[in-house]
Amino acid sequence: MKSRDEIFKEGRKVVKKIIDQAAETARAETDNVPEPGLTGDFTFPVKATLNKGLEGAITGSTGIGYVNGEKGWLLYRGYNIFDLAANCDFEEVIYLLLYGDLPDVHELEAFKKKLIGYRSIPEVVIDVLKKIPTPHTHPMAALRTAISVLGTLDATADDCSVDAEREVAIRLIAQLPGVVAAIARIREHKRLVPQDISCTHACNFLYTMTGESPIDINNISEAIMNVALILHADHGMNNSTFTGIVINSSLTDMYSSIVGAIGSLKGPLHGGANERVLYMLEEIGNINKVEEWFKDARATKRKLMGFGHRVYKAYDPRGRVLKPLAKKLAEDHPDFMKLYDIAEKLDDLVCKKLGKEKRIFPNVDFYSGLVYRSLGIKSAMFTPIFAVSRIVGWTARALEYLQTNRIMRPRAVYTGDLKKKLIPIEKRKK
Ligand code: SDX
Repeated sequence: MKSRDEIFKEGRKVVKKIIDQAAETARAETDNVPEPGLTGDFTFPVKATLNKGLEGAITGSTGIGYVNGEKGWLLYRGYNIFDLAANCDFEEVIYLLLYGDLPDVHELEAFKKKLIGYRSIPEVVIDVLKKIPTPHTHPMAALRTAISVLGTLDATADDCSVDAEREVAIRLIAQLPGVVAAIARIREHKRLVPQDISCTHACNFLYTMTGESPIDINNISEAIMNVALILHADHGMNNSTFTGIVINSSLTDMYSSIVGAIGSLKGPLHGGANERVLYMLEEIGNINKVEEWFKDARATKRKLMGFGHRVYKAYDPRGRVLKPLAKKLAEDHPDFMKLYDIAEKLDDLVCKKLGKEKRIFPNVDFYSGLVYRSLGIKSAMFTPIFAVSRIVGWTARALEYLQTNRIMRPRAVYTGDLKKKLIPIEKRKK
């Protein structure tokens, strides 16, 4: 009888093969030539052409990660996302993003122990979560609340030194899976599953979320959750990461920054898209309906959830990994395969009709929901899973900016009157 770790090891090998294949296809289709002006040396002041929504704005320099939008590549601290996803534990990537390079065996051992030591969730947080009216409260609103409560329990929360904030970051990274799992179980009126300190971040998260051992779900589930957490960890100056940095730049506290970032990620134009992709695929319902549905969506100028990106004008590399993983998981489930086939057909159609003309391609959210659904996770929990991973990028970048902090404070052009005469109220008539 194979041990759990042996089964996980085999699962990692199966998944590695799929990712290496995806990487090969990506290398054949696009080169990783850095975009001019977006890599290399940097000093302020910079000239930039700005468009609505801060398009074109440069917030400063970073060593944490690079999103090559033109070519569809993603690097974390110089490592290609395909290599990290195919070969690393999520815990290695957390260490990489926080400390600047991959850990050696001893550093990783010690870091995993530290994360496990921080995993437990204070009872009062669970009590508050149990009081939140679950039917209509979105799990991201519950998550935002839980982080606020954690902040009130930390007597050192207002110490905004880099070391103190890094410790808060590591604690929150360790606790988020348990908080999200508790939210999921409470919503489903199920008992909470005690954390399993003997297993990986990914395994413990899946187990406490679904109540089932990842092996019972599928012997590649742990490996796939590990990859999903790696893929979502960091992504440049996206809306939620930028939000966290803006808040933290006032020297408030890391909890306040993360609460703000969660609020941003909840939005359907950002992390909330993955949940809506599933609703969209279920609405299409049948592979033969895809063309007609697409035509109608274009005619009514409907936003296609899971498509388009402010930075990627090429296929999102994370989608290149999640697509074959979604297919692999769907192979054992005819219902999921039906949804996968609809997704693949819509993917092909959008790439053909909008790829060249409007440079609209699938983004990370298009296939992630299919993966999570196949792992037995309810759609409402998809965005909180995104947060379980992205808390690493949020905290790493807030800490990076804090080291040479300057409060973020842009301007707006005033287009109103300049010399209005004040009329006493009795003479004002509307
Ligand atoms: C994430 O920033 C990040 O890095 C985010 C993220 C991360 O890891 O943090 O990658 C995660 O948030 C991915 C995006 C998830 N959101 C969605 O899938 C929602 C659907 N996508 C769109 O709403 C849109 O593509 C955005 C919000 C992602 C990007 O919006 P932009 O850059 O503001 O683009 P836009 O809305 O100005 O669109 C430009 C044109 C418009 O057409 P025109 O008016 O010029 O004719 O492209 C069209 C848009 O109508 N367009 C779409 C579309 N996305 C853009 N048309 C239909 N469906 C879409 N999805």
